[in-house]
Amino acid sequence: IPVECFDLVIFGGTGDLARRKILPGLFRRFCSGQMPPEAQIIGAARSELDDDGYRQFVREAVQEFGGTHYEKDQLDQFLQRLGYETVDAKGEGGWEALKGRLRDKVVRAFYFSVGPSLFGDIAERLRSFGLANEDSRIVLEKPFGHDLETARALNATLAQHFDETQIYRIDHYLGKETVQNLMAVRFGNMLFEPLWNAQYVDHIQITVAETVSVEGRGGYYDKSGAMRDMVQNHLMQLLCLIAMEPPAKFDPDAVRDEKLKVIRALDPVEPHHVVRGQYSADEKQAGYRVHAENPRSRTESFVAMKVHVSNWRWAGTPFYLRTGKQLRARASEIAVVFKDAPHSIFGEEAGRHRNVLSIRLQPNEGMTLGVTIKEPGPGGMRLIDVPLDMSFAEALGPDGEDAPDAYERLIMDVIRGNQTLFMRGDEVEAAWAWTDPIIASWVARNDVPKPYDAGSSGPEDALMLMHRDGRRWREIK
Ligand code: BG6
Repeated sequence: IPVECFDLVIFGGTGDLARRKILPGLFRRFCSGQMPPEAQIIGAARSELDDDGYRQFVREAVQEFGGTHYEKDQLDQFLQRLGYETVDAKGEGGWEALKGRLRDKVVRAFYFSVGPSLFGDIAERLRSFGLANEDSRIVLEKPFGHDLETARALNATLAQHFDETQIYRIDHYLGKETVQNLMAVRFGNMLFEPLWNAQYVDHIQITVAETVSVEGRGGYYDKSGAMRDMVQNHLMQLLCLIAMEPPAKFDPDAVRDEKLKVIRALDPVEPHHVVRGQYSADEKQAGYRVHAENPRSRTESFVAMKVHVSNWRWAGTPFYLRTGKQLRARASEIAVVFKDAPHSIFGEEAGRHRNVLSIRLQPNEGMTLGVTIKEPGPGGMRLIDVPLDMSFAEALGPDGEDAPDAYERLIMDVIRGNQTLFMRGDEVEAAWAWTDPIIASWVARNDVPKPYDAGSSGPEDALMLMHRDGRRWREIK
């Protein structure tokens, strides 16, 4: 379904995110017919470029990151929708010219694909130069602040110029197919929700494992670490969607109210329930400290933790979270591990298996439910665990690989004016309020992250975190 006509300004329009994600994503929406042919996209940045120069930049970005399923004509037509303005985010230059390009009676959206230090300046100029109107939307990339204090200050600055209903804070994990499916699975079926609580669920594991290193972005990463870069936002959002109560409606505030309640119900994390890691060098490549260009760095590239959601539904069911760089495989999964059946009528020798619902974010997006059945054949009553498997890619049909990626969906939601999959200001602050003391305790203790080998599953201590509880992590594969 095509969205309304729009003017989208991308601040940081020549940056890496624009090149890799935003522009190729918009192109795919253009090819699919979802982006109206008269829509206009304007790159805005410091570089001195003209429209043609920017079109060339975007052509190369699409050729590199836009996939292969398109005709050359489509790319030419798309490029006609693009323009560029050199803008000084902290000064006066370029703002009037940019304003001159914007049309009346179309949706105006401004994407801040820039560092957070410029958020305030841009927001202020959008107002003072009269580019933004009451219906305009602004889209903000993470990191949204560095801690509670900075996030609060940022929210306060934005609130001087924009209403909360105009502010779209992106967490691209919320745009992933599986993440949205999580809500469909939970709240569209009768099957799961009655069992979705501490009485039936032994524990939940959330793993976001990456194979990439921090090479090339050490400057940013070393000041953040896995906790700020991944846990405070992406893992927290996954946790919220898994743990939240059913919202009365699938509408922005109903959903975000429920997520906020989850964050507020999180217990402070005990120091011995957190393991930090940092990948070390091996024969093939340098370790974290070289990549981060900080020989003494104590920043974590891995974190594993045990978390409790202290409310009626979840009291007593731990949530284990882990994420890291340079791990064995790129594999992200949420696993809901159900409790043992209360009694085995077949005797212990028949074997016992727990039901595990595994929700895969990437790769092979999909869901698998492990079900216990009798081993087929004449061997008597022996129980085995078989997967009921569902691949979202297959369900999407042969064009599955063309399914919109997270950024594409979210940008289209901005144009539609749907904030459901964006973080509200209070949510972000609550997440920082929970994260800050964990980080503060590392600083206070001068905590040194545990080394782990590139290509492993993280430090040994992370395994111990679960072993101590008589549980084990699911394999990263
Ligand atoms: C980003 C983090 O937000 O998410 C990166 O800054 C991380 O460090 C990335 O690699 C992971 O996103 P995805 O979609 O590849 O899982």
